[in-house]
Amino acid sequence: MGGKLGTLFARAGHEVVFSYAHRTEKLKRLARAAQGKARAGTPREAAQDADALLLAVHWSRVDDVLSQAGDLSGKVIVTCSLPMNADDSALLIGHDSSGAEALAKKVPKTRVVSAFGTVPSEVLFAVYEGRRKPSLVYCGDEARSKQVAVELIRDVGFDPVDAGPLRIARYTEPFTLLIAQLAYEGTEGPELAYRFERFRS
Ligand SMILES: NC(=O)c1ccc[n+]([C@@H]2O[C@H](COP(=O)([O-])OP(=O)(O)OC[C@H]3O[C@@H](n4cnc5c(N)ncnc54)[C@H](OP(=O)(O)O)[C@@H]3O)[C@@H](O)[C@H]2O)c1
Repeated sequence: MGGKLGTLFARAGHEVVFSYAHRTEKLKRLARAAQGKARAGTPREAAQDADALLLAVHWSRVDDVLSQAGDLSGKVIVTCSLPMNADDSALLIGHDSSGAEALAKKVPKTRVVSAFGTVPSEVLFAVYEGRRKPSLVYCGDEARSKQVAVELIRDVGFDPVDAGPLRIARYTEPFTLLIAQLAYEGTEGPELAYRFERFRS
């Protein structure tokens, strides 16, 4: 998710720092291939002057990447990370909380928006190519940080759908398991997104 979204953010004109991988060479390769203002850096370097941070690591790595990033006070964190267990078979948090809310508690001085987690990474480039405009739900507690997320969502080619406050991630995160079922267990491949249609008389 981070590699693909970072690439698309760079192509859309943002300055991007790719960080957090086992080998720096992977991050440098992503930055070279992104064809924009992109570079590789440590999580701390990525966070330093960033207007927004994309959190796109496995749930088991969240504490590690946050500690490497250092002080994130005042930062906007856009998270697509789902609170999955080690073998990705179940959500560790649900019903009365969500991964996004648990993240906001871990870093209370940041502004967390949940976005991008409801689509498979495999569809992102096709959406960017713009043949169709699927919906993308996002949620968060603060208007200005949600606006940052809206800009990024539009830049990738989705139609942003404001689902409300961060606690709505309790619904969007399990919804993603449905999307994953359709994407990875179905017969038609993972290049899948969704669109909400409204019918007003
Ligand atoms: N994939 C999807 O379609 C999708 C969709 C919706 C939500 N999500 C959520 O998005 C998050 C990211 O998923 P993903 O599929 O993008 O994961 P991923 O491909 O495994 O990417 C995670 C990143 O973390 C790095 N990493 C992992 N362990 C590390 C360690 N010990 N030290 C340093 N770097 C480490 C990986 O580096 P290496 O490449 O070197 O291992 C990689 O750069 C997850 O929470 C997932 O639930 C994923």
